[in-house]
Amino acid sequence: MGYALERFITEIKESIAATGKVPVELIEITTPKPNIPADRTFVAFKAAKALGVDPAKFAAELASAIAPPPDSLIGEVTATGPFLNFSLHPQRLAAAVLNEIETAGEAYGTVADGAGRTVVIDYSSPNIAKRMHVGHIRSTIIGQALVHIFRALGYRVIGDNHLGDWGTQFGIILAAMQRYGRPQNEGEAAMAELEALYARYNAEMKDDPALEDEARRWSLALEQGDPTARELWQWCVDLSLRAAQRNYDRLGIRFDYAYGESFYEAMLPGVIEEALRSEAAFRDVDGAVVAELDKLPKFIIQRNDGGTVYMTRDIATIKFRLQEFNPSHIIYVVDARQELHFRQLFAIVRAMGYARDVELVHVPFGVITTPDGQPLSTKKGNMVYLEALLDDAVARARALVDAKSADLPPEERAAIAEAVGIGAVIYNDLYQDPRRNITLDWDRMLSIEGNSAAYLQYSHARCRSILRRAASEGATLADADPALLTHPSEQRLIRHLARLHEAVREAGARYAPFVIADWCYTTAREFGIFFEQCPVLRAETPALRAARLQLVAATANALRNGLALLGINAPERM
Ligand code: ARG
Repeated sequence: MGYALERFITEIKESIAATGKVPVELIEITTPKPNIPADRTFVAFKAAKALGVDPAKFAAELASAIAPPPDSLIGEVTATGPFLNFSLHPQRLAAAVLNEIETAGEAYGTVADGAGRTVVIDYSSPNIAKRMHVGHIRSTIIGQALVHIFRALGYRVIGDNHLGDWGTQFGIILAAMQRYGRPQNEGEAAMAELEALYARYNAEMKDDPALEDEARRWSLALEQGDPTARELWQWCVDLSLRAAQRNYDRLGIRFDYAYGESFYEAMLPGVIEEALRSEAAFRDVDGAVVAELDKLPKFIIQRNDGGTVYMTRDIATIKFRLQEFNPSHIIYVVDARQELHFRQLFAIVRAMGYARDVELVHVPFGVITTPDGQPLSTKKGNMVYLEALLDDAVARARALVDAKSADLPPEERAAIAEAVGIGAVIYNDLYQDPRRNITLDWDRMLSIEGNSAAYLQYSHARCRSILRRAASEGATLADADPALLTHPSEQRLIRHLARLHEAVREAGARYAPFVIADWCYTTAREFGIFFEQCPVLRAETPALRAARLQLVAATANALRNGLALLGINAPERM
């Protein structure tokens, strides 16, 4: 069973084994270089060597001995030197792929590799009492795409928003709210107020040391569970979460948990004791508890005043996740500036004897800059906040949709603009290696010609529009015969559609949503070429028209699935 390409490979292995000439453990199938006109290759070197025969002669002998079953996906088998090349059978491939896409529907592209295993993905993770800015958006978007990709791989996925809701900065926030009053607004405006309160307190603290003591008292009160401090803090957390939730809803972000750093507070004394006992950490001359592992710079897990830090809570978080979810992977989608933090974290939990057979992965990413490469910063006043960014994207998309599709009803235009604007922001984050910085270049992001979400959404909508037109002309897809799809551009498109599962596997193995973005982009391009070279509605015969319509439907469905893996919606019309 399995999808077409997987079946093809199994058939190759079986047909080689059936010759009785190659020991099964030496049957390894590879993908040939692009200049080789074949789909898969068996390199006869090793087997020939083991048998003491000439590799080229052996490959030729195998080629004539191979007899695939009559309904096989194997087409031509040829030997070139030591290479035994297998091509897909064009007609049977077309039938298999179009049938799979139709029957699997939204599940096309999924596999069961991860069945029975769990992946924890730690993403978004903004700091409470601050507006989410474009720095957090990258973690949110890349993390959500990885959630979709690992689900498509068959894993149980736990998405956890590791909120920055604990630490000494809360002393200042609580003191400021107590002194100047709580924010009056809701949403981002309330968050801006909170930021202003924090800044004001910080400024006044410089001239008035009493304010510093007051903040320290609030910090301590919070840690000791004082009811007033707790209430103020909870209010602030809830306000921040409500503000964040609006952005999450628009972006299609859904977490399973948002425990946050505060959740681990009670575990921290035990963690420090354990780190000392296992000798992963030691007490430094100044009384702080520190670790120095794997030649990494020394780091603190308990300050000399007894306070804990971000790192301490991250160690506790791993312990908790291991107990609670028993994962095979824990994936952290966090900005590249925290690379050292994660190396130190992984080193100390390993030294403590944890997570021995768990993949601990940091997926780092670069920053967002202006189109001319300037970093965005609050100090420079060019910071972009998430809500404003999304509004801006949707407003720009709306102008385009109004201009291009004036005939559609306004509510539909609004919905399309939302999908296109949000899609542009998401795709901008995902189309390239996350380590590279990204720019906010609206012309590129919203262009329906380049490598952009709008172009992919437009290609999808174009497929749907062809299908609608066909339906209105009474054309039917029923009983279409995919074997008619032998034109080179049809064959290229079909082979490409067949590769979605492999793209999903590669994206998972490399923690790289851009592999899916590339697959989507190539789908749209191959579709464009096919559509230019092969008339669909005006095909030479009704039978060919039906087959091509089926290919159009398959392209639309597969592309919709690819976009969904990235978290991008595909409107029916544009
Ligand atoms: N709140 C942190 C920040 O904004 C990111 C947390 C990432 N996750 C983690 N488990 N350390 O810098």
